[in-house]
Amino acid sequence: MTAMRERPIGVFDSGLGGLTAVRELRRLLPHEDIVYFGDTGRVPYGTRGVDTIIRYAKQDIAFLLEQKVKFVMAACGTVSSTLPAEFSAALPVGFTGVVQCTAQAAAKATKTGRIGIIGTPATIASRSYEAALRALRSDVQITAQSCPLFVPLVENGYFNADNEVTRLVAEDYLKPLQKAEVDTLILGCTHYPLIAPILAKVMGPQVALIDSGRETALCTAALLREADLLRNDGHIGTAQYFVSDSTESFATLSGWFLGEYAGGDVTRISVDHYPADGGISQ
Ligand code: DGL
Repeated sequence: MTAMRERPIGVFDSGLGGLTAVRELRRLLPHEDIVYFGDTGRVPYGTRGVDTIIRYAKQDIAFLLEQKVKFVMAACGTVSSTLPAEFSAALPVGFTGVVQCTAQAAAKATKTGRIGIIGTPATIASRSYEAALRALRSDVQITAQSCPLFVPLVENGYFNADNEVTRLVAEDYLKPLQKAEVDTLILGCTHYPLIAPILAKVMGPQVALIDSGRETALCTAALLREADLLRNDGHIGTAQYFVSDSTESFATLSGWFLGEYAGGDVTRISVDHYPADGGISQ
């Protein structure tokens, strides 16, 4: 039996977004193996109903548990805002979503207390980031904006820094945040850091962008260290990618984004047959 410490870290998202966390994990923890699942056959999650998002997330987690991961990271703002805490607490391994880690970084970064949040419709409707921020700092003024077009733009490769279509969409979505003069903007969906250069240009240099993928990777590294679950045998970490639709476009787009941090094959799987309760008896 593989020792717990030698098992991979499991990361999932609806598609490419969670790679923003993978890139950071690979950089921070070069000795760790990573199993990534991108549910590209069912993306986007953020425009669906809560019951559907929960069912998808539980199936994704059941797949990762079958891969014998030592930790599950929901690298998805939508899932993190929706999955019941009782479910994640009942998992046989450690778990983190993105909301708490990202809210902590934003609460620390803001000077004026004016914080903007952008996310998918499901994330914004859940008010998850607002609740986490208010619990950390009572003086914050929050402006939240849902940006449903960003995920399909990213999934279709519209994330190069000079992409005019994405810039125009960003200008429109970010207007209320500019008007509110936020000094900190939470990229509350893990897809958004892929278009961070465009968002930064629209918001201007005075606004700090908080990358939910990066912040959650930092939290995960700290949690694994605390639990004494990091490898210490000099192993060179690998990454294995699984998707639920065609591998070609994922391999190309993920390769562009991950560059030197890619490091593994992409395999197509089906998750539809995984239990809708994640196989966890609560
Ligand atoms: N990366 C997911 C998130 O962080 C995108 C959700 C979607 O598929 O709409 O919310």
